Amino acid sequence: MKNRFSDKVVIVTGSSLGIGFASAQQFANEGAHVVLCARNAEKLKYAAQQISDAGGKVSFEVIDLEDTDLFKGLIERTAESQGRLDVLVNNAAVTRHRTIDNMSLEQWRKNFCVTADATFVGTKTAMSIMAKQEQGGSIVNISSSCGSKATIGVSGYSAAKAAVNSFSSCAAMEGATQGVRVNTVVPGSVATAASQAAVGGNQKIQDAIHETIPMKRSGTPEEIAAAITFLASDEASFITGVELPVDGGKLAQLYVPTTLV
Ligand SMILES: NC(=O)c1ccc[n+]([C@@H]2O[C@H](COP(=O)([O-])OP(=O)(O)OC[C@H]3O[C@@H](n4cnc5c(N)ncnc54)[C@H](OP(=O)(O)O)[C@@H]3O)[C@@H](O)[C@H]2O)c1
Repeated sequence: MKNRFSDKVVIVTGSSLGIGFASAQQFANEGAHVVLCARNAEKLKYAAQQISDAGGKVSFEVIDLEDTDLFKGLIERTAESQGRLDVLVNNAAVTRHRTIDNMSLEQWRKNFCVTADATFVGTKTAMSIMAKQEQGGSIVNISSSCGSKATIGVSGYSAAKAAVNSFSSCAAMEGATQGVRVNTVVPGSVATAASQAAVGGNQKIQDAIHETIPMKRSGTPEEIAAAITFLASDEASFITGVELPVDGGKLAQLYVPTTLV
């Protein structure tokens, strides 16, 4: 096993489940002290227990990222108590599936409060800490293929993810001479509680989605985590400002009806 995060301090948001939890496990397996956060205390405790049972260094804080002051405080306290902050993964997102005619301004804004606003506040706070460290730091923001491709019923989520893409590229430019790398992982369909809820647990819809993916399946949280930990690690020391799709070929695909090939 690699040991890329030995003695490093890593914060992963939305880390009680899914992609965030799989990432936290991989960071901890490779030597990091990982800080978990999410809203549900029981799920968070269970996640932390699994990591510590496997020998990982872990702490956690119950937090709603809609309160960006609390989030800023969590990042600052972590850097203060641990003496450093090496990696921040802005993973948590809020998704509201609605067509435009059914969406209020308040619901539209809800899509941005965690996905875009917490990503902004987290990146700003972490960058200022990392820029003062000799070793710099790395920020990985989690977007979605919805951030660059369109479908029905997810305009608010998609617009917020597009904001994450654009903001992350700009942050990469501002961090480049300060030793802070900022990259974006762009998952396609991934088998998590959130994606199951999005299709109402309907296997027929899930199969139809898989049919549209070149690799004919969803990714696993661990496959997304592998991209996140790579970009966060020193193996990616000359990589900043990229959007890395991890989607079984979906974004690269030129759709051609199968009757023609
Ligand atoms: N799954 C997919 O197919 C897919 C595809 C493309 C992109 N993504 C992106 O990947 C990321 C993770 O998705 P996922 O599928 O792994 O999600 P998930 O399984 O639903 O997990 C979401 C995590 O975020 C936490 N969370 C949600 N709202 C929060 C809030 N307001 N404050 C603090 N924590 C919060 C949840 O815990 P609590 O509910 O307890 O707070 C949980 O730990 C998201 O950015 C998502 O947009 C996912």
